[in-house]
Amino acid sequence: MPDTPQISESAVESAVEAALAAIAAAPDTAALKAARSAHAGEASTLAQLNATLRDVPNDQKAALGKLVGQARGRVQQAVAAREGELAVAEEQARLDAETIDVTGIPARRAQGARHPLTTMMEQMSDIFLAMGWEVAEGPELENEWFNFDALNFDPDHPARAMQDTFFIDPVERHLVLRTHTSPVQIRSLLERELPVYVVAPGRVFRTDELDATHTPVFHQMEGIAIDKGLTMAHLRGTLEHIARSMFGEGARIRLRPSYFPFTEPSAELDVWHPTFTGGARWIEWGGCGMVNPNVLRAAGIDPDVYQGFAFGMGIERTLMFRNGVSDMRDMVEGDVRFSQQFGMVV
Ligand code: FA5
Ligand code: MG
Repeated sequence: MPDTPQISESAVESAVEAALAAIAAAPDTAALKAARSAHAGEASTLAQLNATLRDVPNDQKAALGKLVGQARGRVQQAVAAREGELAVAEEQARLDAETIDVTGIPARRAQGARHPLTTMMEQMSDIFLAMGWEVAEGPELENEWFNFDALNFDPDHPARAMQDTFFIDPVERHLVLRTHTSPVQIRSLLERELPVYVVAPGRVFRTDELDATHTPVFHQMEGIAIDKGLTMAHLRGTLEHIARSMFGEGARIRLRPSYFPFTEPSAELDVWHPTFTGGARWIEWGGCGMVNPNVLRAAGIDPDVYQGFAFGMGIERTLMFRNGVSDMRDMVEGDVRFSQQFGMVV
């Protein structure tokens, strides 16, 4: 600094004004610190004015000393006050930045969705549970004996080739990917006390090509009822009930004579509904019939005492015609948006 400032009332007053203005204008604690050292530090105008006191005539020393002392006190107070203000403001800004709105709607990441085939199998199972039936399961990797022999498929009979089978290496182990849910019929009869009323939903496998109406991996819902005195009328009544429960009161069923080695007589089960995709028409839904006495014997049951019926329908078919899915490939591709449109109910 070239010239030492001359101490006077107005010099002190203008140094204080400059200091107070700088302090008031400091936007944050860092700026306040700089203002403090500029206006109250050792190199500040006020400090220099204070230093000149020693050259002041003795009769003015006390008055000017008091003036500078009070001025420095005012500046210190202003710094402290501004410090307090800034601390509160900075704390508030930090809290604002960290605020969490607990009433806000959280950002949810889509976790996936239940597949409508799963939901539909549960829904069909529930209809049978409500009638007092039980739900059973069987393995997807199945012994050939359960999948074919016990179901009265003769070893050399072409019927064994009726369903195009995935055989598992080595062939001597006689394991197949089950081609239908019917082996669960035998497992249920071997495991349970009579009478038996069981449904078995599950996945099955055939060497079919994937197209709009077929897939090599699909689902069936098997049913078997073995009791005394069961007839074709019970079969028909049961199928009518499940058809109306699944498709609506307007649904009708039709049984067409057919052949399965494990039922006699056997029938194709067709279902009709006025609102089917593509118009009111008959759709092949599954197969059914009265359980063949040879099957009962394979499970150690006397066919002269117990009789029963069985059925098996396609779940993919059910979803197609009930929910208007025109292409079965949409069901297997695994795009979550397909599943999401069904929500938690089908
Ligand atoms: C059977 O699988 C017999 N086990 C059904 C049965 C059970 C008859 C009990 C008698 C007593 P079928 O091969 O027709 O039958 O198949 C039954 C249903 O599965 C078909 O009507 C169809 O709805 C469905 N289905 C068959 N193949 C496919 C496929 N590749 N893709 C999707 N659904 C299929
Ligand atoms: Mg068929």
